[in-house]
Amino acid sequence: MRTNVAYTRRSVIAGSAAMAALAVAEKGRASVPQARKFKRERFVEDCQAAHGDGGMAAVQEVLAAAVSDHRAVLDGLGEPTSAGFDVLLHSPALTIFAAHWTPQMNLLPHNHEMAALIGIYTGREDNILWRDEPEGLRAHSAACLFEGDVVALPVDAIHSVSNPLQRFTGGIHIYDGDFFATERSQWNPETLAREPSDGDTIRAMFARENERRAGQCGGPA
Ligand SMILES: [Fe+2]
Repeated sequence: MRTNVAYTRRSVIAGSAAMAALAVAEKGRASVPQARKFKRERFVEDCQAAHGDGGMAAVQEVLAAAVSDHRAVLDGLGEPTSAGFDVLLHSPALTIFAAHWTPQMNLLPHNHEMAALIGIYTGREDNILWRDEPEGLRAHSAACLFEGDVVALPVDAIHSVSNPLQRFTGGIHIYDGDFFATERSQWNPETLAREPSDGDTIRAMFARENERRAGQCGGPA
């Protein structure tokens, strides 16, 4: 183990300058009116308008308002039933999708090469934040995201993700660019060697996860 991290509910364990840019956004939830229904088209329109007006900081407010009523988001998007993406928007300027993690699914360290937001609407997502240092990749902090939590990841963030629960996790992921067309990096979980990654690489991982789960369950995931 390369670093000591403590996991607490709705907390980010700081200790680095990078963490200044990564803050669980809980403020403002109480003042945001609860939406009665989550409409995916309206949500996309609101995110695009916010992005045009105030960039990712403004989009974060829209996301935080949405997942503050996480049951409405779950109702609007539906229960996740397999690993994968439910793409709400794919454009050169902004990508929005609901990521579905199978029970106890793990995703290896990877970067995005663009700012990102994650808002959890069902389940839980445990993030380990890594730093690419001269001697190699090193874990430096953690963020455990529960339903209703939002986290902002800076452009240079590297994270790995685990769903610690025995049920599916769903989170809305928003990227400040074209997530699927951008060439990125991932790090081998055994060796921590850097490898190329892109949208197809991630899709293949999700496909393998569904195959693994189907094998465990003895049927379709
Ligand atoms: Fe990611």
